Amino acid sequence: MTQILCIAGSLRSGSYNVRLLEAAQALVAGAGHQPVPMDGDTLRALPLMDQDLEAREGLPDAAKRIKRAFAGADGVLMACPEYNGSITPLLKNVIDWTSRPDDDHPASACFGGKPMALIGASPGGLGGLRGLRHVREILGNLGALVVPAQLAVARAGDAFPGDGSAVLGDERQQQALAAVVDNLLHWVRAARGAA
Ligand SMILES: Cc1cc2nc3c(=O)[nH]c(=O)nc-3n(C[C@H](O)[C@H](O)[C@H](O)COP(=O)(O)O)c2cc1C
Repeated sequence: MTQILCIAGSLRSGSYNVRLLEAAQALVAGAGHQPVPMDGDTLRALPLMDQDLEAREGLPDAAKRIKRAFAGADGVLMACPEYNGSITPLLKNVIDWTSRPDDDHPASACFGGKPMALIGASPGGLGGLRGLRHVREILGNLGALVVPAQLAVARAGDAFPGDGSAVLGDERQQQALAAVVDNLLHWVRAARGAA
């Protein structure tokens, strides 16, 4: 079964991006595929990128777990908050550690040719669109196949129903989210066919 790693760039309780990711995960599962959420404990345990630490001890366990998750996934869905017009430190740290080669996985196993889709949510009027551009560029530099469809949900505080359901309140936005998931699954199939 196709496995889609799902990772959010926020550990905030009540995170809009986690909520958006949950809505996307439901669509992945609805399409008959396996969403694989990255667990918050692993993300919390990841130290800041530190080359002295890396030289002394190799990759930290959390980085190894994250690398395994990337390497084992057929595709990746990232929900990206925007900090000061850019990527959050959490997400950049994940990408930086994951880009380091180790005995188990070369960096290319995690990013090279791997289909990835970006979504984001923000209380602001642009929905974190400026940050998505930066994440796209970083992942592109690493050789990931960042799919064209993306979604930035503006005014995120009003975007989700109060009952906690994993769906966007606005039908057109929900359709746009489904289009992102469809686009990711399309490129996962294409990448598999090309392999
Ligand atoms: C350091 C910092 C910088 C931020 N910069 C932006 C920004 O440039 N654009 C924006 O739309 N929101 C910005 N925000 C607000 C975040 O979008 C908001 O906190 C959002 O809820 C974070 O995502 P989350 O709900 O998934 O945790 C910033 C928040 C922080 C803490």
